[in-house]
Amino acid sequence: MAARSFGPVIVVHGGAGKVAPDLVEVRRAGIRAAVTNGLQLLTAGGSAVEAVEQAVKTLEDDPAFNAGRGACLNRDGEIELDASIMDGRNLAAGAIGAVKRIANPVMLARAVMEAGGPVLLVGEGAGQFAAAVGIAECGVDVLITKRQRARWATMREDNAESVGTVGAVALDRTGHLAAATSTGGLLLKAPGRVGDSALIGCGTYADDQRGAASCTGDGEAIIKLALAKTALEFLQNGEDPMAAARRAVGELTARIGAEVGIILLDRYGRIGMARNTAQMACACIRNDNADPELFD
Ligand code: GLY
Repeated sequence: MAARSFGPVIVVHGGAGKVAPDLVEVRRAGIRAAVTNGLQLLTAGGSAVEAVEQAVKTLEDDPAFNAGRGACLNRDGEIELDASIMDGRNLAAGAIGAVKRIANPVMLARAVMEAGGPVLLVGEGAGQFAAAVGIAECGVDVLITKRQRARWATMREDNAESVGTVGAVALDRTGHLAAATSTGGLLLKAPGRVGDSALIGCGTYADDQRGAASCTGDGEAIIKLALAKTALEFLQNGEDPMAAARRAVGELTARIGAEVGIILLDRYGRIGMARNTAQMACACIRNDNADPELFD
């Protein structure tokens, strides 16, 4: 049977949580740029994988988001980045955890996926892999912003800015889905801690037969409920994407009580999103509509 064309559709999130007032507009602009960059690839015939990689890379390059440049610092004042990507066409997946000198972790995750060996590489081994595939390390000064250094220095665990993680899901013209997620993790996290954003099924999942999902929020809670895969199972059982997203977040809230958010896309290009936090900046573009729809 010939492949049906549905897309392109792309949805992007910039993390669930409470945003400092001075960052609200900056982050809206960043989300808008990310979803637009992803759509441009899809419109030009690019794949869903290329689109989610480009959207997440855009947010990693934007210091207003907790991913790549601008990521939060761990207990030792260092950056340790997690990211993952998945291709719904063939269930190919790649992830990296606790990398310290990679400007665009989503690109490294994609390289891991394309290599077709291990799905998850962490720490020094991930750095060695990056060198082997020609992804150069950057200085930590490129990644650590003054804002994040100041947050770490004051050690305010209950501060006004606690958002984390960026992600994207996309459906391309050939009907294939993909998802990607990238994060600096949690402020003051334990060195070596790897969160849901590096774990397939937890922070990221994509399967053409089910849908695509990217999560944000408390990584430990997301891991315990394998939130991305759980939400896609609700989809597969017949719920629409919005209901599936809400049910997944509701179940996590009831059973674990942590702050999370999720974006979903089904194989027909229908969108779902849910959060139990004050804010989760999201944007989507459906079917070549050039104007992004923005959600807080
Ligand atoms: N969701 C990001 C993290 O907990 O690392």
